[in-house]
Amino acid sequence: MSSVGSTTAAKLARERQPHGQPLWLLAELTYKCPLQCPYCSNPLDFADTGAELSTEQWIDVFRQARRLGAAQLGFSGGEPLVRRDLERLIAEARQLGYYTNLITSGIGLDAARIAAFREAGLDHIQVSFQAADEEVNNLLAGSKKAFAQKLAMAREVKAQGYPMVLNFVTHRHNIDRIDRIIELCVELEADYVELATCQYYGWAYENREQLLPTRAQLERAEHITNEYRARLAEQGNPIRLIFVTPDYYEERPKKCMNGWGEIFLTVTPDGTALPCHSARMLPIAFPNVKQQSLEQIWNESSGFNHFRGDDWMQEPCRSCDEKAHDHGGCRCQAYLLTGDMNAADPVCAKSPHHDTILAARQAAEAPAHETDVTYRNERNSRVFARSID
Ligand code: FES
Repeated sequence: MSSVGSTTAAKLARERQPHGQPLWLLAELTYKCPLQCPYCSNPLDFADTGAELSTEQWIDVFRQARRLGAAQLGFSGGEPLVRRDLERLIAEARQLGYYTNLITSGIGLDAARIAAFREAGLDHIQVSFQAADEEVNNLLAGSKKAFAQKLAMAREVKAQGYPMVLNFVTHRHNIDRIDRIIELCVELEADYVELATCQYYGWAYENREQLLPTRAQLERAEHITNEYRARLAEQGNPIRLIFVTPDYYEERPKKCMNGWGEIFLTVTPDGTALPCHSARMLPIAFPNVKQQSLEQIWNESSGFNHFRGDDWMQEPCRSCDEKAHDHGGCRCQAYLLTGDMNAADPVCAKSPHHDTILAARQAAEAPAHETDVTYRNERNSRVFARSID
């Protein structure tokens, strides 16, 4: 299909279907990262993208997004700590009235920097872990020092008065140790813990065979999490455990990003504006903040209008009585699994492509094998970029 609609068509679509404000701005400050997680959601060809936005350009993005109604600002990457201007960006965001959240691996953090972030007005820090045991964590991170540094920084974040918010990405190699993961979180006196099973985009899709757990693994992990929830509540421990299952074990898709171009706006390191963090791989020419105002981008661009409303839907979505609820599911997942971004998300049991999900589940039942994962690093990314050219 034609990948880019005309501006006129986009305007018409907008008039037909009013949309929301970009309440949530995700600023992917950089694709640079000291770790190499094989489930990273960054694009496979991240090494081939243009120059990063300057400090002033980012501040201008924050200002424009705030005028459009953005209230939450997430600093992400790559590893956002790589940016030496992060303190300044946080301070400017605070001045503009954002609620700010730093999403980090903790690598590159120290007590002085946490204090500087606090001084600048940062509201929230989320530290991600790869596993609860040092060896697996470091293997998955591709770094020998990652685990010790993360533990120290998680403790320091709490010591400096922030709530401790931890994120563990789970998959077939660590999900059987969910009890150990929860014990570690309790030991660390965490306040919120996201036990999020990988979603299969970007590098995780590339490594899906090595990462997708079996249904039995998933059910056992959820059961253990529920037992801990009950026990910890009885003990008066306020920790909140949030268990996120992968789409691949659902029968109905999610309303991805709460609807395309409804509340989420992602800006990538080179200024490309996206309705979700994975959309860059779709055959759509997305606008760039260096060339257009955010207002034009959000309201007028064909990229943001592409999946607003339901005119784009095919069967079975078009006549489905659940379409207002799930909006046909995730566009990126549909594209990855079918090659057609307009197709129903194959997670849906009504999709003619649901067999791709069943096949992935079936493949996960095979015993874990020793196939190497593909690490997310510059070298591998350049190989992917060359293969796309
Ligand atoms: Fe892009 Fe779902 S991740 S639409």
